[in-house]
This record gives sequence, structure tokens and C-alpha cells, in this order.
Amino acid sequence: MSTQATHSSLEGQHQFDVLIIGTGSAGLMSALQLSTDLSIALIAKDDVLEGSSFYAQGGISAVLDAHDNFDQHVADTLSTACGLADKEAVNFMVKNAPAAIDSLENSGVQFTKDNNAYHLTTEGGHSHRRVAHVADKTGQSIQINLLNNVKKRNNITLFEGYIAVDLLTQMDQCFGAYVLNKQTHKVESFVAHKTILATGGASKVYRYTSNPDTSTGDGIAMAKRAGCKIVNMEFAQFHPTCLYHPHAKSFLISEAIRGEGGKLHLPNGELFMHKYDERGELAPRDIVARAIDSEMKSGGLDCVYLDISFKGKDWIQQHFPTIFDKCLSFGIDISRQSIPVVPAAHYTCGGIDTNLDGQTDIKNLYAIGEVAHTRVHGANRMASNSLLECIVFAKSCAQDINQQALDSAHPSFNPWDASRVAPSNEKVVVTHLWDEVRAIMWNFVGIVRSDRRLNYAKHRLEQIEVEVNEYYSLYLISSDLVELRNLVKTAQIIIQSALARQESRGLHFNEDHPGLSKSVKNTII
Ligand code: FAD
Ligand code: SIN
Repeated sequence: MSTQATHSSLEGQHQFDVLIIGTGSAGLMSALQLSTDLSIALIAKDDVLEGSSFYAQGGISAVLDAHDNFDQHVADTLSTACGLADKEAVNFMVKNAPAAIDSLENSGVQFTKDNNAYHLTTEGGHSHRRVAHVADKTGQSIQINLLNNVKKRNNITLFEGYIAVDLLTQMDQCFGAYVLNKQTHKVESFVAHKTILATGGASKVYRYTSNPDTSTGDGIAMAKRAGCKIVNMEFAQFHPTCLYHPHAKSFLISEAIRGEGGKLHLPNGELFMHKYDERGELAPRDIVARAIDSEMKSGGLDCVYLDISFKGKDWIQQHFPTIFDKCLSFGIDISRQSIPVVPAAHYTCGGIDTNLDGQTDIKNLYAIGEVAHTRVHGANRMASNSLLECIVFAKSCAQDINQQALDSAHPSFNPWDASRVAPSNEKVVVTHLWDEVRAIMWNFVGIVRSDRRLNYAKHRLEQIEVEVNEYYSLYLISSDLVELRNLVKTAQIIIQSALARQESRGLHFNEDHPGLSKSVKNTII
């Protein structure tokens, strides 16, 4: 370990003990858990608080009630994951969940309580109430509190508006990353003994998503280019209920509304979930999203509706203040009207393969949070297990790094070479290809897939990759171009994985292979 938490920064060259890429709940928690003896660079490509974590509504799952138990949380997670989650990893996450809640409370998060006990809600797949929450602003509270603590640490330097472009690697080892400073438009080298990818998911590859703009699969694409194993990327999770309104860009209507009794219905008021699963509205997400998709397609509908109005205005405002206010801002009073909802891309279940400490198969490179495949979600993530995964694996990753002796010297790397590229006067190419990739993914690689549609998407993405690589070799990079290159790479991995899975399991449904295959295996790219 370095003896003091100092870093050096010459123009365009930085040296740290640890580089953390991403300031969601995974990135911030790992920074706080690392030894204060280490110098840490924490970089965010946008505003520090922007990322999926900030928007998390429902909460974080943990066994916190005397009538619940670890075995049941494990069993629910494994069953939702449709045979593909790893029991040891799920056990590890579930058993560390109460400690994760303690760490958040120690950081200042004040979970909603009822007479001093946690107010626990429920969501699809859970057989017990076990979702701790801060009303419907759980992510916001977590992020603000973690960030406040990070800002008090002298050993952590925050770099906001810095987008990582590619990892610095030598002989199967990672030593940091090339990072574009969005203000100066210059690429700087961040050289570090340990690098943690905490860049979140890739749901922006789809035209309609609950995710903020940051979820462009950057970490997955960078890791793939560096040679990491990427696993189970066909399992793109679609959240059943996002607000359907022309001006609501990506607003989620929490599954906790269904956990509290909310009912889905057609425009004529007819309920339909009982036709698809005996658990009705609280079946796992893959089932509810497919049911809505099927009703919309067969009925030619723009959306279906979710009703919670029967709970009354006071109760709704107390439990779901954010959702109440947001819907009202669009003229929908959810204490009197049902909410128009549609499914949208929500979560990336696959990712960079890691062990229980977040280690990837490249030395000194870690991945935590949504970018990682920690083997806990399998073919479908259970609700509120993601924030949990972020916190649990952020802690184990930091502990692993804290136990290691780090070199005092850093290797040297050539600075980024921009001598052969020119400013672009063809930016329309980038915006056009962004839209095209997302439309292809939505139309051909969505909730219900077929071999023909997947192959069409594969061929078109191959052409787009050539176009993007040509543009990349000619013009100065911008954050839009960096993200487009990553979107294309991630979309290709999703398609390749979907084509490789010749069965329908969990979130991956292919109408040419509607049954389950006898052999249960991961898709490794
Ligand atoms: P994020 O929080 O997405 O953060 C990613 C970070 O990486 C950001 O700081 C971003 O700027 C940075 N970044 C990305 N690429 C780069 C790059 N190239 N260079 C530099 N920085 C980069 N899960 C639950 O368990 N419970 C819930 O209630 C819940 N509700 C949700 C509601 C919504 C609307 C959404 C979208 C998700 C929800 N989820 C929920 C899922 C959960 O919030 C996310 O999976 C989790 O927060 C991901 O955290 P993360 O730290 O991995 O990534
Ligand atoms: C929600 O509140 O519905 C989102 C929960 C999750 O994604 O786990």
C-alpha cells in the first residue's frame, strides 16, 4: 500500500493508487470503503449525481423482518433468475444485505420507518416484504448521502465531466484509462495501480428506456476491447411500467405500486394479469412485461393502465410523493385516475464477469454494480436486488484492494495521439447512427425476438460498426462519438448473445425457440 494518499498530476497525466470510473452507488460506496491511505480518482462523465442510482425508487432488498429469512431471499432470487444465477454468489449477496443497509444508514440514509421498524414493501418475485426504502426517493437519498461523505475525504479527488475512452493495458494487466476531459476536449491519461469500472448498464441501446443518458454500456465495451469475458448480455430487462406520455422522457412507475396492490388494466377497465401468471401483478418482471407487450400488440394499444387510486390521496402522497407529483405535472392525478404505462428497457443483467470481490479476468481491473456480471441475477434480476448488489460488491471489492500491497512506481504510457485526426464537420452522422442503433435494438432485439429479426439486426450493426470505426479514425473524438462507439459494441454483444441462446429463458424470449433447453449454460462472449 502507498504510504500516503498523494497523487501527482502533470498536464494531461495523472497518477493515483485507484481509479474509479463511475459515481453511481457502486462507485461512491467503493470509494468510501477504500483505505484513506490510498489516493483515489473518482470520475463521472456527467454531473456526479447523474446515473441510474439517483433515480431508484422502489428500494433495496434485505432480510430485516423476524418472519423472513436468508434462505427465502436466496430461493426467490434463484427462482426469478430462471436457473442461471450462481447459488454461492446469491448467498453471499443476501447474507451481506443487512450489513449493506447498516453501511447506508451510517452514511446518513434515513430509511422510511413505521414505529421504529423498517417500513418494508414488496415487488415482483419476493415472497416476503423485504424492500427497505426512503419513500419513493431511495436512490436520491443514497446518492446525496454517499456523495456528502466522499466530499469529506481528502484522499478522494472528484473529476466531473470526464468520460473514460479506453482502458490502459499492458500484458493482460490494467493500469488505468484514457479519459476525455469534456471541457478542454483533450484526452488525459489516468494511470493507476487498480481500476474499478462502475459505469452502470447499457439500457440506452434501446430507443425507450427508464434509464438516464449515462447508461450507454461504456464499461462493457471498454472491457470487451481490453479482452474481458462478457457474460449473459442477452438478458436485457424491460421494466413493465414506465409512464406513457409524449413529454415524459423516461419516467419509471415503481413496481412498489403493484407491491402495494396496484392493478394493471386495459383501456376498457378489464384486468389481464391473472391470465398470464397466478401471481398476477407481482409475477417477475419478464412475465409482466411480456404480458403487457402481448396485450398491446393483440389489442393495437398505445399503452395499458395501472390503478392505485383506491388507496386515497393522503396515502399515495405519503408513500409515492415523487410519482404523484411527476404524474400531476403531466395532468394525471393518480389519486383519481389510472396511470398510462408501457414497458421500457431498464436493466442489464449480463456484464463483465467477476468473482465475489469484483475482480475481472484482467489483472488489477475490477467491475462492480450494473456493469458487472457478479452471477447473482441469471436470466432475470429480482426487483431491488440491484442497489443491494452495488453496495455488497463495492464493499468486497474495496476490502480486496485494501488487503493488497501496491507498487510505489507507476508505469509510463504514451499520451493519447490526436495528430492524425481532424475536427468533424459531419456530426450529423453521429446523431443519425445513434438513433438508428436504438431503433434497430427496439424493433428487432426487444421483448419478443425471432431468429430473422436478430439476424437482420446483426447485419445492420456490422455495417454501422464499419461506419463508426471509419469516423473514429478520421475525426477528433467527442463524448457523443465515444458513447456511440460503445453503444454499437454493446448492441453487437447483446445480439450475438441472443443468437447464441437457442431457447427461451427468463428475459430472453425467442419465438423460434419457445421452450427451455435441457442444458443450463451461460453465454460467454
Ligand atoms: P449508475 O448509478 O448508473 O452510475 C454509473 C456511473 O458511471 C455514472 O456516474 C456515470 O456518469 C458513470 N459513467 C458511465 N460511463 C462512463 C465513462 N465512460 N466515463 C466516466 N464515467 C462514466 N434497483 C434497485 O435495486 N432498486 C430500485 O428501486 C431501483 N429503481 C430503479 C429506478 C430507475 C428509474 C432505474 C433507471 C433503475 C433502478 N434500479 C433499481 C436499478 C439500479 O438503480 C441500478 O442498477 C444501479 O443504481 C446501478 O448503479 P451503478 O453504480 O452500477 O451505475
Ligand atoms: C422499481 O421501483 O420498480 C424499480 C426497482 C428495481 O429496478 O429493482
